[in-house]
Amino acid sequence: MTASSASGFPQTVPQPVAAPLTRSAIFLVTKVNPGVGNEAVVRSLSGDLASLLRAVGFRDTAGNLSCVVAFGSDVWGRLFGEPRPAELHVFREIRAGPRLAVSTPGDVLFHIRSQRKDLCFELATQIMARLRDSVSPVDEVHGFRYFDSRDLLGFVDGTENPVGEAMADATLVGQEDSHFAGGSYVIVQKYLHDLGRWNALPTEEQERIIGRTKSSDIELDEAIKPSSAHNALTTITVDGKEIKILRDNMPFGQASTDEFGTYFIGYSRSPRTTEQMLDNMFVGKPPGNYDRLLDFSRAVTGSLFFAPSATFLENLNVD
Ligand code: HEM
Repeated sequence: MTASSASGFPQTVPQPVAAPLTRSAIFLVTKVNPGVGNEAVVRSLSGDLASLLRAVGFRDTAGNLSCVVAFGSDVWGRLFGEPRPAELHVFREIRAGPRLAVSTPGDVLFHIRSQRKDLCFELATQIMARLRDSVSPVDEVHGFRYFDSRDLLGFVDGTENPVGEAMADATLVGQEDSHFAGGSYVIVQKYLHDLGRWNALPTEEQERIIGRTKSSDIELDEAIKPSSAHNALTTITVDGKEIKILRDNMPFGQASTDEFGTYFIGYSRSPRTTEQMLDNMFVGKPPGNYDRLLDFSRAVTGSLFFAPSATFLENLNVD
């Protein structure tokens, strides 16, 4: 489906990057096995994704099932050849003192969202039934919405996301890379929290780390907010204009093994924005003034992908 702009020229339709927040999500990362046959299978599934999504999603349209597929730098050439998205590269590791933003492998990311866990699971199962012999799983995380959109640290997560026009402007590539207009860069990181130590902190101290109040989710006054607060370090300003990203973080975990985590996912028009946020968090701004969230959270994965437009995917299966 290609929409028409007011000028009558065909317009590129993005993938559902801007899908509304849902109660469930699955983050599925895979590696494509060597062999041209496997690459053809992945291309064909990617081209058919919209119809697979319609088939599963139609079973309960109120479930708001959506899926974004995105590809890593190492596999882009194998799958699609040239040209390639201008800023697509392997996720760059950041090391600063004891803090480490690891870079881990990943060729294809599926970000599946729905109000219903069973719809997410069914779509993931259908995708893997097609890909089974052609990819190797790297990571699969099932996220859940926790009370009023809180992370497992107890803070509301997602408040300052851009909306409407600002969201499109923050997430979608434009004429700066016209061949890939309507696409989006995606960075994912799986974080594990030391909840025992976090919960031992007084609430006021936690609030100074995040930069917002815990119960009412109000931004701390600039007069008392430390420059190391999470929301201070992740505010990026270029030429006086704030550059945003779109996040849809999800809690995940396992009570019996003390695994408590946040799956971070950030969509952006340029990966430089999210990378700058990561530099500020891990190295600090100025260096040393790092994000204290990282004293209680460690990143165990980190990958960068490009989610081409839905129009690009649709054209994959057109001869
Ligand atoms: C341990 C993982 C993380 C947790 C638990 C977390 C949690 C939070 C919370 C609670 C907020 C405040 C509410 C909101 O505006 O959403 C927030 C804001 C934000 N976070 Fe994170 N975050 C994490 C990792 C990251 C990473 C890795 C990035 C970017 C690389 C990031 C970027 C942002 C941005 C841009 C904001 C909004 C700042 C503003 O405009 O006020 N977060 N995060």
